[in-house]
Amino acid sequence: MKKILAISGSLREKSFNTGLTKALHALVSEGVTVEHAVISSLPFFNQDIESAFPEEATVLKNQIEAADAIVFATPEYNRSIPGVLKNAIDWASRPWGKNSFAKKPVLIMGASVGPIATAVAQQELKKIMLYLDAKVVGQPELYIGTAGDKFNEAGELTDENTKEHIKKGLEVLVSLV
Ligand SMILES: Cc1cc2nc3c(=O)[nH]c(=O)nc-3n(C[C@H](O)[C@H](O)[C@H](O)COP(=O)(O)O)c2cc1C
Repeated sequence: MKKILAISGSLREKSFNTGLTKALHALVSEGVTVEHAVISSLPFFNQDIESAFPEEATVLKNQIEAADAIVFATPEYNRSIPGVLKNAIDWASRPWGKNSFAKKPVLIMGASVGPIATAVAQQELKKIMLYLDAKVVGQPELYIGTAGDKFNEAGELTDENTKEHIKKGLEVLVSLV
């Protein structure tokens, strides 16, 4: 059994990106399970409190390290990733020498109401993940624009083309495990 940890960069209740992470359960192949990280309760990263590493950050690091692969679904905020996601990544990259993302296969996707479809934010996230020595999937790229047309009222992904595209991404991700 292979385990994927899904991390949504949005705390919004009806988030399209959280909707993407929830859709993964139906899109992974047999023998692959999906777990969800909770990043909303992490304190703001502060190097002064690293010596008393917060429990929430330890839980996140343990989840990442126990997973075979990671899937990020990130919104684009002001042409970058949301602060809440960067905060979670900063915690998981610490303490120095114990970066939890090292060598981890990572698939990045993102949904936006706009036409640029999180391309800029994903580029930033890829840059961060490459620095942290993750094995980032290059292709396929998963830019999900005009998200309002691809999810239903309950925030569930309904667009079949998008589902097929994500399935291909997941296959590449699992091949890196
Ligand atoms: C602070 C803020 C900045 C945003 N900046 C961008 C942006 O740079 N590019 C973009 O495509 N959408 C931008 N948006 C719109 C988001 O794509 C939209 O709110 C999306 O639904 C957020 O993802 P979520 O549904 O997962 O919460 C921004 C939204 C907020 C709240």
